[in-house]
Amino acid sequence: MDKTESQMLIIFGASGDLTARKLIPALFNLYQGQFLPKNFSVLGVSRSPLSDSDFRNKVVKESSYLKTDIDGKAADFINQFSDKLFYHDLGSSYEEPYNTLAERITSLNSEFQTAYNFIFYLSTPPNIYEVIAKNLSEQGLTVQEKGWKRLIVEKPFGYDLASAKNLNHNLHKYFKEKQIFRIDHYLGKETVQNLLVTRFANSIFEPLWNRNYIQHVEITNAESVGVEKRGGYYDSSGALRDMFQNHLLQIVSLVVMEPPIGSTAEEIRNEKVKALKSLRIVKDHKTLNENTIRGQYLAATINGEKVKGYREEDGVNPNSTTETFVALKFFVDNWRWKDVPFYVRTAKRMPTKVTEIVIHFKPPHHHIFVDAGLNNKDNKLIIRIQPDEGILIKFGVKVPGLGFKVERANLDFYYSSLEGTNLMAAYERLLLDAMQGDATLYARADEVEAAWEFVDPILEYWKTNKDAKIYGYSAGVWGPQNEDDLMEGKYTWRNPGENLADDPEFCVIK
Ligand code: BG6
Repeated sequence: MDKTESQMLIIFGASGDLTARKLIPALFNLYQGQFLPKNFSVLGVSRSPLSDSDFRNKVVKESSYLKTDIDGKAADFINQFSDKLFYHDLGSSYEEPYNTLAERITSLNSEFQTAYNFIFYLSTPPNIYEVIAKNLSEQGLTVQEKGWKRLIVEKPFGYDLASAKNLNHNLHKYFKEKQIFRIDHYLGKETVQNLLVTRFANSIFEPLWNRNYIQHVEITNAESVGVEKRGGYYDSSGALRDMFQNHLLQIVSLVVMEPPIGSTAEEIRNEKVKALKSLRIVKDHKTLNENTIRGQYLAATINGEKVKGYREEDGVNPNSTTETFVALKFFVDNWRWKDVPFYVRTAKRMPTKVTEIVIHFKPPHHHIFVDAGLNNKDNKLIIRIQPDEGILIKFGVKVPGLGFKVERANLDFYYSSLEGTNLMAAYERLLLDAMQGDATLYARADEVEAAWEFVDPILEYWKTNKDAKIYGYSAGVWGPQNEDDLMEGKYTWRNPGENLADDPEFCVIK
């Protein structure tokens, strides 16, 4: 394991939900696993008037997010962790100079011997990222003379291509690209990382991983929840910006990329950028109309419980045309993938929560078993990102008895079967990587911009064209009725169940 140097983590927006829900639990787990360095402290920064002990109570001792983790643990053990946490009230604004904040950081740095190594984590609305970076720089807190300085930023990285470029440009005024860590929590998922291992640490998949053997690639990301309490944010975002531009295009880039020369952050990210740049950017309206479907969930009763439609959710405009479902068909213009359709969909209020990649292989080019009953039973490689993490291969076996009837059988692997596996939560893994200076699982500026370049024309088309319909679907079903129209030929979406080996169309409705 890499050595984690002495350091201080300074979290902006520390009184917000993300700090209590994700960051502190991740740090607590790192503490339990003895991954935190001996000299370490956390300074929460926000505009709420909290004392150090208020902050510790809020995010540790009285936090509902940590309750199950700390229940039954010795008070000393918990105190040793929470004593590392401090809070600084910025007062009325993020824009005032940070003199007192700088003094606080310097004094904690001496107290905890953190060697002037600072990570600044921005868990604030993105419109104040620049002002925070500027104020830090004015206090000399971005200079790497005495120790290193890193900046972690949360999505959204921009609202479209122009604003993403602008954000990158503004951050680069104060931080070098190598100091900036853009967090995409999907890259912290063990199974997303395993895509690289499946492809490049085996010799049995990669020879088939191309247009000669692959019929199409299908990715489903479904959530059973609606927009919950985030209606205000979501209504100005939508599924394409919220999930596709970042998490799903990151997954696409790992499926599409060429083998990297090695496994350093730059070697891997160079290939991911190339992959994203090879996505065919479509601007003509006919193709955009045919290859994109957007939808919105409608009120329904699920398991006897009434569920609101999207337009009735708090914070959502009652006439909103924001999509909660999106399905896209697109192509990758390079040697490996020419003419292979990619189908990707993401949505809220679907029957179950699941993310999976399905690689559909072409049928054998010469059929020996004429009446084998092979229709619709192509070989598939299913990579389950969540839940029931694992890999499933569907292949043909002979049905016992006369003749040569073929049935599909499953060859499966489940992460849960690995003994002693303790899957690190995404934020835990990513925070530890940033603490060790490893940016492999963080998005680089050019990756983010390449992703926006692909997405921008779709957003523009939806915004400006009346023929760009938005379809309704009842909460709890697999999206609008016409979603299979996107698929070429006889194919339809595989509607996965909660368990990896469930056959399509069957699932548990939660
Ligand atoms: C976030 C989106 O990035 O990812 C949310 O903003 C979404 O809308 C969430 O619910 C899904 O993450 P996960 O890890 O639960 O699949």
